[in-house]
Amino acid sequence: MCGIVGCVLKNRKAAPILLDCISKLEYRGYDSVGIATADDNGIHLKKDSGKIEEVNNKIDLGEMPGEFGIAHVRWATHGIPSKENSHPHTDNSENIAVVHNGIIENYAEIKESLESEGFVFKSQTDTEVIPILIEKFMDKGFDLEESLRKTVEMINGSYAIGAISKDNPKEIVAARKDSPLIVGVGDFDFFIASDAPAILNYTNNIIYVDNGEFVVLNEEGAVIKDSDGNIVDKKIEVINWTADMAQKEGYDYFMLKEIHEQDQVIRDTLSEKDNISEIVSKLDDINRICFVACGTSYHASLTGKYLIESMAGIPTDVILASEFKYSANALDDKTLTIFISQSGETADTLKALRRANKTSKTLAIVNVLGSSATREAEFVIYTRAGPEIGVAATKTYISQLVCIYLFAAILADNDEILNRLEIIPDYILDVLNKEDEIKEIAYKYKDAKDFFFIGRGLAYPTALEGALKLKEITYIHGEGYAAGELKHGPLALIDKKIPVVVVVPPGNGYDKTMSNLEEVRARGADVITIGPCGVEAIKRESKDSFCVNNEVDEIIAPLVYVVPLQLLSYYVSIERNLDPDKPKNLAKCVTVE
Ligand code: F6R
Repeated sequence: MCGIVGCVLKNRKAAPILLDCISKLEYRGYDSVGIATADDNGIHLKKDSGKIEEVNNKIDLGEMPGEFGIAHVRWATHGIPSKENSHPHTDNSENIAVVHNGIIENYAEIKESLESEGFVFKSQTDTEVIPILIEKFMDKGFDLEESLRKTVEMINGSYAIGAISKDNPKEIVAARKDSPLIVGVGDFDFFIASDAPAILNYTNNIIYVDNGEFVVLNEEGAVIKDSDGNIVDKKIEVINWTADMAQKEGYDYFMLKEIHEQDQVIRDTLSEKDNISEIVSKLDDINRICFVACGTSYHASLTGKYLIESMAGIPTDVILASEFKYSANALDDKTLTIFISQSGETADTLKALRRANKTSKTLAIVNVLGSSATREAEFVIYTRAGPEIGVAATKTYISQLVCIYLFAAILADNDEILNRLEIIPDYILDVLNKEDEIKEIAYKYKDAKDFFFIGRGLAYPTALEGALKLKEITYIHGEGYAAGELKHGPLALIDKKIPVVVVVPPGNGYDKTMSNLEEVRARGADVITIGPCGVEAIKRESKDSFCVNNEVDEIIAPLVYVVPLQLLSYYVSIERNLDPDKPKNLAKCVTVE
């Protein structure tokens, strides 16, 4: 989704710093970019559609006067990507500039009413009503902060807003409802931003702004106020993420770097064990678990259902967050609802969390420190993956799985699984050492139009995740299916040259999955098998295969078998000359429903 940044600096120009910060947020949304600064001569504005690098080459975004300003990367919701629709947006007198992440649901009626009063709109965006409303209130004599307060009273929807005015030197006012907003507190420089990676080059001291709060940022620092204008005493949290963690460090793309970090991410996430034990000790009376999540986090949740039901015998459901409100859910105080989210800001997931908080115990498994889900759920487990910049989730998926394995094993007193988790990083390193084999397979299948991914039991969510990664970053249609379900319909689609990726770890499901492999092979499909090393039948029956250490059985396979699938999508994307870090139409953090 869109990303916003703002800064008030001491004795240095804001534009180059804003450009640096916003480029760290490009992963959130990227169809347009813009910066507004201000000085004695008024507001200075540069913006256009396109990636930051392209726009910067054209109009030199870092070259603007003024020691304070705001900036934005856009992920279009209302209005096509274009210069006019790019943020910042200004009022009619061009004295005020605004950046916004979120959606103003009642913008059409506000726009109509403002137009009838003579105000003119230059864009098709919902956002433009904000600077014009602020202008209207400032014209009536209210100051910038008051005018923003009055503006947000009129709008429905979600927002993180940053506003500047030429009449308020070195001041940024900001407001938040349902879209993320943080404040960065440096020694002499102060920031607002959608998330921490944007400002890590400048400060690690973060204040998390809550829903309904306002921020006034100036040379003295940051003041946070509640909706009635009272100053709120907020804690400054020092986060241990470093700017380096959000750099490519020699890799061509963040996605590849993040895939390669997975062995270390597992070691780091295993440190959550004591926290998880403590949480489990408070859950004596639960008799049902319900996972709620979207996308990749949903696939981690599906793995959780298989693990918890088989290890701990507790009935477990998995619900897509966007579907949660359409069923009665039957939650009660003996239900634990587990929310899995990399960002902790996904709108669908947060809505469901708020609903579940009313009737059940809630636990959030989240990567982004201090994000909304971590502040609203009763219990929190952190996935220790560090900042993930590639839009396609990889290392955070692995870390979600580690938390789920720890949770299920502790719930079931299963020391064997707890011990086996320690060895997973080595199995992942084995896979990464054979990366070139996957690269070759990717080269062969780069022009395919459709892929199938099949697996059984715990390998089924892995197959779904493999298909999702492929769709996201290669734009090839990929369908994940339970291997035994193919014959109930989709087998009709299988014919010559459709690549079918068969995920077949050793264990109970092995023989039956191998039979399903034969079914697709008999229909002419090109079978690519991910299975255990040293099995002659796999080599013989497959067009291509990649093997994983045969100690990795079906119980722990989700933590290892997904890695070759991530690499397959990555290299197909590279072969197709695409940018795997920034797939079209997608955003890292989806803050709209
Ligand atoms: C896929 C991907 C998305 C997210 C989904 C949920 O690679 O990243 O499917 O998993 O948008 O996001 P979070 O986990 O932040 O709630």
